[in-house]
Amino acid sequence: MKSKILQLLKDSDGYVSGEEISKILGVSRTAIWKVISHLKEEGYIIESVTKKGYMLRETPDLLTEDEILYNLNTKWLGQKIYHHHQIDSTNKEAKKLAAAGEKEGTIVISEEQLAGRGRLGRTWVSPPQTGIWMSVILRPPISPADASKITLIAGLAVCEGIQAVTGLPAQIKWPNDIVLHNKKICGILTEMSAEMEKVNYIILGIGINVNINSFPEDIKNTATSLKIEGEKDYDRKEIVKAILTNLEKYYEAYLNKQDLEDLLEKYKRHCLTLGKEVKIIHRNEEFIGKAVDLSEEGELVVEKQDGQVVTVFSGEVSV
Ligand code: BTN
Repeated sequence: MKSKILQLLKDSDGYVSGEEISKILGVSRTAIWKVISHLKEEGYIIESVTKKGYMLRETPDLLTEDEILYNLNTKWLGQKIYHHHQIDSTNKEAKKLAAAGEKEGTIVISEEQLAGRGRLGRTWVSPPQTGIWMSVILRPPISPADASKITLIAGLAVCEGIQAVTGLPAQIKWPNDIVLHNKKICGILTEMSAEMEKVNYIILGIGINVNINSFPEDIKNTATSLKIEGEKDYDRKEIVKAILTNLEKYYEAYLNKQDLEDLLEKYKRHCLTLGKEVKIIHRNEEFIGKAVDLSEEGELVVEKQDGQVVTVFSGEVSV
């Protein structure tokens, strides 16, 4: 009922009377009043005027389920959201839920992470209310060998989502860092539980630096935020919605066709790495070459300095 009342308030230009809400939703005026008080506690500024009713004046800048679900037009992705004000890591929590049977499409999102995790055992700085720290539970019917493709798809969905909402020229650094003016604004940490031939679940952990003003000394030359680059605050909810919409569309397209061809075409258009000299660090090997293409499987095709062409499917790439 809370989300329905909120929807009525959001959809209306002026006041909505208690009587109207009560008629539409078939609930008592006292019940409505209770919901309104609860919404106010959550940070909504709602004006109540006798004989006129209620008017929504301000919405809190929080990534709650109600806020994200409002006007979200996905079929299943993000239709269930666990919102936290503070958590150690959304990936850790999503893994716990997935292991306990949580369904595909559920999202864990937090305003702040106290132990945000990055790739290669690094930490991920996740200050309160300034970023998007979320994890998506997926259960693709694919073999574990194809799981890295889901990460590429996520990179594409995030890049296009950021571009669409902010108008900023975000690019993908293969495989799935999103950068702006060559500095990182988003990282994706994919974690998987699988058997020999079957994926049980994939957790897509997406971290986006949205309205962060500054970064710690050790990462300030390589990390940036949308706010620093665009010189204004951005609406985190709108970015989340755009990403979820893209991700559902591209994920379904991939599963339906079982190939990446069309998506790779799009991906290549946004990919900063292609055509550039790259340093690849993979396991204990390190080499320099030119990134010449992406294979059908989404691996990076690199021409080494001695002319040998190799495909790289994971590792650290610096451009
Ligand atoms: C990277 O190192 O590039 C990946 C960073 C991924 C960070 C996100 S924030 C939400 C989710 N929860 C985590 O603990 N990590 C991921």
